[in-house]
Amino acid sequence: MTLKLSRRSNIPNFKALDILRMVNERCADGEDIIHLEAGQPCFGAPEPVLEYARKMTINDPKQGYTEAMGMSLLRDRIALYYKDIYDIDIDYKNIAITVGASGAFILTFLSAFDAGDKVALATPGYPAYRNILSSLNIKTIEIETNETTNYQPYVSLLKKLDTKIDGLIIASPSNPTGTIIPDDELKKIVNWCDKNKVRIISDELYQMVSYETKPQTIMKYTDKAIVINSFSKYFALTGWRLGWTVLPEDLTPRVKSLSESLFVSPPTISQHLAYKIFDHTDILDSYVSVYKNNLDILRKELPKSGINKLSNTQGAFYIYADISNLTDNSEEFCKRMIDEAGVACTPGSDFDINRGQKTIRISFAGATEDIKKACERLIKWQN
Ligand SMILES: Cc1ncc(COP(=O)(O)O)c(C=O)c1O
Repeated sequence: MTLKLSRRSNIPNFKALDILRMVNERCADGEDIIHLEAGQPCFGAPEPVLEYARKMTINDPKQGYTEAMGMSLLRDRIALYYKDIYDIDIDYKNIAITVGASGAFILTFLSAFDAGDKVALATPGYPAYRNILSSLNIKTIEIETNETTNYQPYVSLLKKLDTKIDGLIIASPSNPTGTIIPDDELKKIVNWCDKNKVRIISDELYQMVSYETKPQTIMKYTDKAIVINSFSKYFALTGWRLGWTVLPEDLTPRVKSLSESLFVSPPTISQHLAYKIFDHTDILDSYVSVYKNNLDILRKELPKSGINKLSNTQGAFYIYADISNLTDNSEEFCKRMIDEAGVACTPGSDFDINRGQKTIRISFAGATEDIKKACERLIKWQN
């Protein structure tokens, strides 16, 4: 007897994670493969933060639930962070702590949209947006972008949409291209969305990992957008699974109720760590300098391997490379790269279903030694 499976759970695998799992298994069996596929910092939590966590678990071994929206101490600390970095005032009550940014997507999409609503997003883009939306029966409207709009959904592209949309996801800096929405364009996007009654979801995970100018938070220009952030990237607490969302007033009670029933509370020990990490941003900033150095090495070395059409990475820790001079099957190319060169990266088909067979994403959140070694291997492989 076959029982029913839901149609909405039939979403594609996340290829970067499939490759991460496979490479981990092969490395455990003794193979030497360099990870350029995973979007996770090679650094763990700074030692003083870990020490604090040890103390917390000894002092309070029970570690029970917290409030569903998260500890007010941490929410208050995040509000202070926005005051320090962006000089904006946020009521901590509108901040919800979530299980990674991923948890924030589920809560905010559910609170803002109904099944059948339409949410636009840029391609190439982070695949989980479309997968989560489709599992909630929310329709995704893909906006194909290229370098002429810095791979971002500029108003010139929004104006060309042939359907009314209810929401727009933006990510600046973006995963996979690392490109940023310039400030004047961000204002234009906000105005266009206001005029067209479109709710903006602004993924700001990589804002503190930027190399030229620091992008502006959308909260500078509107109090109606949903802001998503995380402790996984700049804060390097990836596996502690904690993120947050800053909510417009109208969504806060909805997200509170949803959090209570969907998650009860975010992980308690991780919240203590997250609270403490704000005291160590000097260490986190030194991590960003490592990423910048890695980017410089890749920009200089990668072209020697024929991977020479690189995105204009301004933030995050990704290069999106057009490899149409080498293949029109990036999935097969990435497999061969692992088998023949011992380097793993992610095929572009994860981020762009239509055009991704001609692109790859290279993550440079790893150790500099690994980045250098990967370049040597790729140059040797292609020459
Ligand atoms: C753009 C973007 N948003 C969200 C996430 C999910 O982050 P988290 O680990 O906080 O769930 C990622 C992870 O790679 C990402 O790149």
